[in-house]
Amino acid sequence: MSATELERAVTEVLIEEEELQRRIGELGAEISSDYEGRDLLLVGVLKGAVFFLADLMRHLTVPCEIDFMAISSYGASTDSSGVVRILKDLDINIEGRDVLVVEDIIDSGLTLSYLVRNLEAREPASLEVCALLTKPERREIDVPVRYTGFEIPNRFVIGYGLDFAERYRNLPYVGVLDESLVLGGA
Ligand code: IMP
Ligand code: MG
Repeated sequence: MSATELERAVTEVLIEEEELQRRIGELGAEISSDYEGRDLLLVGVLKGAVFFLADLMRHLTVPCEIDFMAISSYGASTDSSGVVRILKDLDINIEGRDVLVVEDIIDSGLTLSYLVRNLEAREPASLEVCALLTKPERREIDVPVRYTGFEIPNRFVIGYGLDFAERYRNLPYVGVLDESLVLGGA
């Protein structure tokens, strides 16, 4: 896929690369100050959160570890099925740990709500959520999100980890997906 093919899927750049990085720096500073004197376990939700997690972690000044979970998502469609399944569980036992779940985007909130309940049952010392993006208009279930990067409108976005049918994660910015690709059943 050439750079131009990638760019053609984007109708509008929503958050520029510089703006993303600036906000991630702020989040990193805030988290570092909140967790001072403790050590942190970052739980990344595969695959979309990988880019955000890697950049966020470089701004943390507290000792931290990472682990990952994979849960079922949309497949090639752009709407949540409401069905959540663990495809890959954590390697680490989180009992008694300070856990921060790192997500790319919260849409309906169904995925995260399931995940938070599942992790709470493992009795961590604390459990908070950090999401790069949130679409408040789409929320179907209330989930407590301690740290949010950006509130965005109800548009399907790609880039900086976010995919459409597994593609476009490598765009360095967050852009709105060209809807004709969705209608075309890509
Ligand atoms: P939720 O369960 O509806 O909150 O969906 C959360 C998951 O859906 C995210 O972790 C993403 O994988 C995916 N998702 C939701 N909205 C978008 C979007 O605009 N672009 C790409 N993926 C999205
Ligand atoms: Mg995801």
